[in-house]
Order: sequence, then C-alpha cells, then structure tokens
Amino acid sequence: MATLRLGDDAPDFTAETTEGTLNFREWKGDSWAVLFSHPKDFTPVCTTELGRVAGLKPEFDKRNTKVIGLSVDTSDSHGNWAQDIKDVTGNELNFPLIADSDKKVADLYDMIHPNASDTMTVRSVFIIGPDNKVKLTLTYPASTGRNFDEILRVIDSLQLTAEYKVATPSDWKDGEDVIIVPAVSDDEAKERFPKGFDAKKPYLRLTPQPNK
Ligand code: BEZ
Repeated sequence: MATLRLGDDAPDFTAETTEGTLNFREWKGDSWAVLFSHPKDFTPVCTTELGRVAGLKPEFDKRNTKVIGLSVDTSDSHGNWAQDIKDVTGNELNFPLIADSDKKVADLYDMIHPNASDTMTVRSVFIIGPDNKVKLTLTYPASTGRNFDEILRVIDSLQLTAEYKVATPSDWKDGEDVIIVPAVSDDEAKERFPKGFDAKKPYLRLTPQPNK
C-alpha cells in the first residue's frame, strides 16, 4: 500500500478487536475517528499512551470522535494487558484495540516502517472525517510517546475549519482568535464574521472564533 495522503479515502477493513469483530466503516458511521497504532503490548510507553487515551475518552466523545487502537498482537494479549493499563494509569480500556496479528490493517495504513522495525507498528495516527477521508496523519517512533492533548487540539481545529472559512494560527487553542482564509475578500469577511476582524497584514486577518 502506498503511503496514505491527506484527502485520500481511509481504507475500510474488518478486524478482530477487544470488542469483537468490527467493520471499520460501520463502527465509525458518520463520526470523526482517530485510528492509532502502538508498537507492542506490555511495553512501557504504550502502557502510558493507552491509559491516557482511555482517560480522555469523554473529551473525544464531546468532539463526536471515536478512537480505535491497533498493534500486531493478539486479542488475548490485548485483553491481558488491559489490567496492567488499569493498574498503572487507573483507566479502564474503554475503546476497541485491533488485534492485527496478520498485519492486514497495518499494511493498508502503512504502519510498519521496516527501517525502524520490520515486526512492530510505529506510532501512527490517522484522523478521519465524517466523509471517511484522511484529515491528518502523524508518525512517531517507538521511543517517543505522543501528546494526546495535541490530538484533541487538532480535532478542534479540523472541525472548526471544516465549518467556517478560517484557519488556526500556531499554537491555537479552542476559544482563541482565528485567521480568515485569504480567499475571502474584506467585504465578504464583514458579512461572514460580524464580530469584525483585525488586519495585521492584508493577508493576515484575525477574528474571534466564530462558533463561540
Ligand atoms: C514502549 O512502548 O515503551 C516501546 C515499545 C516498543 C519499542 C520501544 C519502546
């Protein structure tokens, strides 16, 4: 499988998970989804990551976003590891983990990078929109745990910019001013953004977040 690019269709699949066999598109429905891989069960960084995602489940729910994890371990392994995740982080595994021991999904999403490891998945993240298109990809190495606050921040930006003709500046967080996209003229901007805008440059116009 070639590398997935932004705007590509997220490949569909049917897989064994800790919540039984599921078809990705049916499970996802018209929600947003985060599909993320980890290298291996019973490893330290992965244990912290999975616990953190479980703890953030209410935040993903608020954003109409389903989360699903993956590694090339078996369902039994995932199930046994869940107790360790609870012991260490206090969080129950509350989202499905794909048991991709035949690497079918890992291959579809190009999650095995042989020059890093030819047996384990890297730390991939795919954010997929209600239209089943890939909206964001991230790839981290096994040695670096991901920042899941950043994933939530990105979802906020993706959802806002899908609805309004805006973009979000560096380090933006939900509630802060946003940028009116350059394709919108000043006259149109006055209509679309009645709270007004501050033109730092003709191409850099800041406006209060329109849905707040
Ligand atoms: C970890 O999760 O700690 C880990 C997994 C695979 C390789 C290295 C570290």
